Amino acid sequence: MTIHELELNRFRNYKKESLTFGEGINILYGQNAQGKTNILEALYIASTGKSHRTNNYNDLIQRGQPGFEIKLKSKINDRENSIIIRYSKDKKKSAEINGIKRDKLSDILGTLNMILFSPETLEVVKGSPAIRRKFLDILLCQTNRQYLHLLRRYNSLIKNKSIALKKGKSEKKYEEIIPVWNEHISVYGGKIAYLRNSAINRLKKYMNEEIHKITGGAESSELVYKTFCETNEEKDEKYYENQLLKRLNEGMQKEISISQCIFGPHRDDFEILLNGMNSRQYCSQGQQRTLALSLILAELFYIEEIKGEKPVLLLDDVLSELDLKRQEYLLKGLSNVQTIITATDETRFISQDQRTIKKFFIENGKVMTKVEKSIDMD
Ligand SMILES: Nc1ncnc2c1ncn2[C@@H]1O[C@H](COP(=O)(O)OP(=O)(O)OP(=O)(O)O)[C@@H](O)[C@H]1O
Ligand SMILES: [Mg+2]
Repeated sequence: MTIHELELNRFRNYKKESLTFGEGINILYGQNAQGKTNILEALYIASTGKSHRTNNYNDLIQRGQPGFEIKLKSKINDRENSIIIRYSKDKKKSAEINGIKRDKLSDILGTLNMILFSPETLEVVKGSPAIRRKFLDILLCQTNRQYLHLLRRYNSLIKNKSIALKKGKSEKKYEEIIPVWNEHISVYGGKIAYLRNSAINRLKKYMNEEIHKITGGAESSELVYKTFCETNEEKDEKYYENQLLKRLNEGMQKEISISQCIFGPHRDDFEILLNGMNSRQYCSQGQQRTLALSLILAELFYIEEIKGEKPVLLLDDVLSELDLKRQEYLLKGLSNVQTIITATDETRFISQDQRTIKKFFIENGKVMTKVEKSIDMD
């Protein structure tokens, strides 16, 4: 899939601006605070319905304006595709896919796949379990239509059960209601765990291949899914459902006593190991960056495997974080992937292939297209 025209209206520091991307590498360059990341943010919103920087859509409206609009034209399986996102201050979000209005912004998930690699991606390696769950959820939502539905149902059951658990201590009748809830929770939660486990098993193979290539075979990586029960590749959905139901029923009194839902995939995590060691505790910053890089590439191959097309890659400020060898490796691995890169300095940009690159100079919310040229080999 490839993106073509982006139009921004009253979005962040863009009043009204449009740009047309090239099919290869696109570089957005300019000084700090000019609006480079704002463009990637708009693209990411058109792909996921979410910003990677804020949960509050009001932050995205140009200061002093009533609302914003993002329009993006793309090509998916050789077919023209258009996405429009609108938001106004009276808190109305709306999305339109190919002229058809959608009720929920999350309905756009999976239409146009993008992967964002930004300094925040390092948090998937270094940060809390919630960040890794979000990473997995976005990936699964992009590649499996059913997953978002499961997640929504599961989360709402957990929310309601939490409220009941708080009352459970004082009202005895909840001891009868909670087992009924647990039945439903185990059906949705079991399916979620099954899908997460399958995704992790696929991702870890790609990731380990990447780590091998980057380090010349010196290092190896592993992803280990941590959920409410033992996991392995052979187990089916029913196994996870039964295991969860067992945990929930056995642990009911414990859940009531601390008034919290303690068993289920909302507590999931996955460990990222390098040479068998947990990367959060044992890896250097550079190794953590390498892991993040290979995880992103694994994500790319995973999406390609399922969708039959490569996603669009957004790289925000990451080239400067990688050493020269890894920069080259990344760019070499990106042949045939449409890539949008931000950089403060266009000249430090290096590449191994001869593809056409397109450059955009960004200054104070204005976009100037520079030249379109091929990169020389040397
Ligand atoms: N809602 C808004 N309305 C107007 N301007 C905004 C809004 N939100 C952010 N900005 C402006 O956008 C600019 C930041 O843009 P952005 O984060 O894209 O910068 P950048 O070019 O990526 O910079 P860096 O190189 O430092 O990462 C800042 O000048 C900020 O004041
Ligand atoms: Mg930026």
